[in-house]
Amino acid sequence: MKISRREMLRISAGTGAALLLSELPACVRDQPLLMRAVPSSGEEFPAVGLGSARTFSVGPSAEERAPLREVLRLFHEMGGRFFDTAPTYGTSEGVAGQLVQELGIQDDLFFATKISTGGGRQAGIDQQEASLQSWGRDTIDLNQVHNLRDVEVHLRTIRQAKEEGRTRYVGVTTSFTRGYEQMERVLRTEELDFVQINYSLGEREAAELLLPLAQDRGIGVVVNEPYNVGRLFGVTSGQELPEWTAEFDCASWGQFFLKYILAHPAVTVVIPATGDPEHLIDNMGAGLGRLPDERTRTRMEDLFDGLA
Ligand SMILES: NC(=O)c1ccc[n+]([C@@H]2O[C@H](COP(=O)([O-])OP(=O)(O)OC[C@H]3O[C@@H](n4cnc5c(N)ncnc54)[C@H](OP(=O)(O)O)[C@@H]3O)[C@@H](O)[C@H]2O)c1
Repeated sequence: MKISRREMLRISAGTGAALLLSELPACVRDQPLLMRAVPSSGEEFPAVGLGSARTFSVGPSAEERAPLREVLRLFHEMGGRFFDTAPTYGTSEGVAGQLVQELGIQDDLFFATKISTGGGRQAGIDQQEASLQSWGRDTIDLNQVHNLRDVEVHLRTIRQAKEEGRTRYVGVTTSFTRGYEQMERVLRTEELDFVQINYSLGEREAAELLLPLAQDRGIGVVVNEPYNVGRLFGVTSGQELPEWTAEFDCASWGQFFLKYILAHPAVTVVIPATGDPEHLIDNMGAGLGRLPDERTRTRMEDLFDGLA
């Protein structure tokens, strides 16, 4: 990945995020974006992706869509690839699909979506077709069974699509600790390329069993709700970033939260959602420079717990 901090600064010139990135030390200047490989294939992409649950669910007006278009444009220009959506995120999948086609980047991005229905096999197949159409694509990169709903039925559909070359990777998701027991069974018994799960400084339960299990089984991990749906910023609001965070090239609380996650060895990609171009640039900055080591991660937990 060719993008460097210098290049990011050029792209973000004139925005508040450029100031944030310019605070990163010069030694980070020419480092590449942090890349991670899909365990089942070795394919690499940048470890910072983009979510879309609420942020992309807007109406048809140009005014509402303009910042989202800019978020996608910047994400692509900075080398970002992994975009996560679902047919049940209001208008998100269709809005993003229209914008990526307007920008001509629909085939450059890694299109991750979901089957998200309790309506049976045919309803899942219909969703899969609608997802392909809304992005103007012949292939979904990753299709996931959303919240493990009717997991066996929809895994069969996604696997068949994989055999037919219409889906490249198979996954499952949850964001609820009450779903973790079922998730453990699924991870132990099913052949999967990816699991998507909630994990953040505010919700660390996934690290107890599911993250190491996924790592052992060679399953890639997509981390959702990395900001605990924005709540983490409420905890650190008004607080200065400690000086020791410079040891891992951290310039903002957003990067603090994301680098904590990215430093877990099981994690393949983290998908913060934003509808704000400056936040997008800030989040992409988490993919630059060093990551905290194990001792520093514990220090980050202690700091966060002391503020929460
Ligand atoms: N079961 C599932 O499959 C499942 C469940 C949950 C989520 N997901 C996926 O994971 C994605 C991420 O989770 P999420 O959207 O629930 O929550 P999240 O990414 O933890 O938090 C999003 C919130 O953080 C704010 N934010 C983002 N970057 C920021 C920054 N640099 N500084 C300050 N605020 C910032 C956003 O507001 P702004 O727009 O103002 O930036 C938004 O309110 C979802 O969008 C979805 O794609 C999947």
